[in-house]
Amino acid sequence: MSKNKRAIDRRSFVKTTLGAAAVSPMAGMAWKPFAGRGGRSEILRVGAVGVGGMGWNDLRNVASHAAVEIAALCDVDKNQLENASDTFDEAKKFRDWREMFDTMGSSFDAVIVSTPDHMHAPISMTALMENKSVYCQKPLTHTIYESRRLRDVAIRKPVVATQMGTQNASRISKRQALSMLRDGIIGELTEIHAWSDRPAGWWPQGEDRPAGSDPVPSYLDWDLWIGVAPMRDYKKDTYAPFKWRGFRDFGCGALGDMACHICDTPIQAFKLYKPKSVVVEATDATDDMFPSTERVIFEMAGVDASGGKTVKFSWTDGGRVPKHSELNIDEDFNLGQNTVAVVGSKATLLVNMDGDPPQVFVDGKLKDVTLPDMPEQNHWHQWVDAALGGSQTQSNFGFAGRMCEILSLGALASRFPNQKLAYDARKMTFPDFPEANQYVRGAYRSGWDVPGLELS
Ligand SMILES: NC(=O)c1ccc[n+]([C@@H]2O[C@H](COP(=O)([O-])OP(=O)(O)OC[C@H]3O[C@@H](n4cnc5c(N)ncnc54)[C@H](O)[C@@H]3O)[C@@H](O)[C@H]2O)c1
Repeated sequence: MSKNKRAIDRRSFVKTTLGAAAVSPMAGMAWKPFAGRGGRSEILRVGAVGVGGMGWNDLRNVASHAAVEIAALCDVDKNQLENASDTFDEAKKFRDWREMFDTMGSSFDAVIVSTPDHMHAPISMTALMENKSVYCQKPLTHTIYESRRLRDVAIRKPVVATQMGTQNASRISKRQALSMLRDGIIGELTEIHAWSDRPAGWWPQGEDRPAGSDPVPSYLDWDLWIGVAPMRDYKKDTYAPFKWRGFRDFGCGALGDMACHICDTPIQAFKLYKPKSVVVEATDATDDMFPSTERVIFEMAGVDASGGKTVKFSWTDGGRVPKHSELNIDEDFNLGQNTVAVVGSKATLLVNMDGDPPQVFVDGKLKDVTLPDMPEQNHWHQWVDAALGGSQTQSNFGFAGRMCEILSLGALASRFPNQKLAYDARKMTFPDFPEANQYVRGAYRSGWDVPGLELS
């Protein structure tokens, strides 16, 4: 057995490193090979792009599936690449993902994309165009246009399996909430309110573009890190690692970063996919960064669950929480953080991203409810199984593209704070506010055209 497959004791890794969020569905079961999508082998050969930070987590989780062979590793940071290669020493190493695709060709079947957000769609689209399955971190995309295109291409490729990296979506609590909402526990849907403690204390937002520059460290390929974004000077401890999230060129702010984990349940349960308008209430948004705190209010087109009536979907970040009265929950209840409240005519359902059981409130009071039985699931293994011929994934691009289009809309609207923007989803335009249209797609840096994401 190669070191790539034996390097990790799968079950102990899953138990000790990831806790309840990632319990192997294979535990206690003999592994049974799948027929393979499109006649592929029963082994899934995976290339991983971005192997530091969350990428290291993704890589080890995917590799802990018995049918996975890690074929290639790619990182613009030499130290991260060498670190991953110490464990997966038979995988080929790359600094440039384009070279990985060019030279490896058909000798890998699937890709993990765990880079900063601005590179998700270019790498994922390249993989899709080559019929490779994709596990891409959240948020799936950086712009409205990328969300629409990735979805459109993915749903037309039944041979590939896709999964956005919202591992919490596979937790029992989130799937219980999904099932309870679909079963009508709240009555008629009226409003959705979500809130997060980010970015405060996690990463900066609401500042002007950093001045000055520092020498690029020898281990980092800054040109490749910038990728499709406009070139800017390197600055130590400013962008890479991790702090790029608050910059418009690279991240999607707290909304893009956290709402994927928090708001996915009601959006998926009710197929609440059509924003009609958005307004971002904020005071310190800049050209370069998202605001340090904001309230984003979407008007969503009515769905069956709302009796066809428009649904208010509100997001608050920076640590503020909505008023209890908006949620129909008594004042003495601690609302916590990183939570969504789904408000209906009969009840309010609350679920957070931390795996706590969903809570139901009737007339403001917490009510005892029987939670549906759910089996354990592992988000990463579900994707591997799907790529080898298994069933649907929880956060496939068909859904993730829809949700990230909504979040990209909110991120875009923070460029025009306190201005209500009507959105024409069919045309992907702002009919009354043409200044905003230029940000629907953005422009990739010269020399970085990506087949599948070109201007149409
Ligand atoms: N699902 C989750 O719970 C979760 C948690 C954290 C981060 N994330 C997501 O994971 C992604 C990465 O976030 P992070 O915090 O790990 O960032 P990070 O900056 O800490 O790490 C990114 C890694 O990708 C590498 N990289 C950057 N550009 C690259 C490129 N073009 N090609 C190859 N490698 C490249 C970096 O060198 C680094 O190793 C983001 O999309 C983020 O939203 C998800």
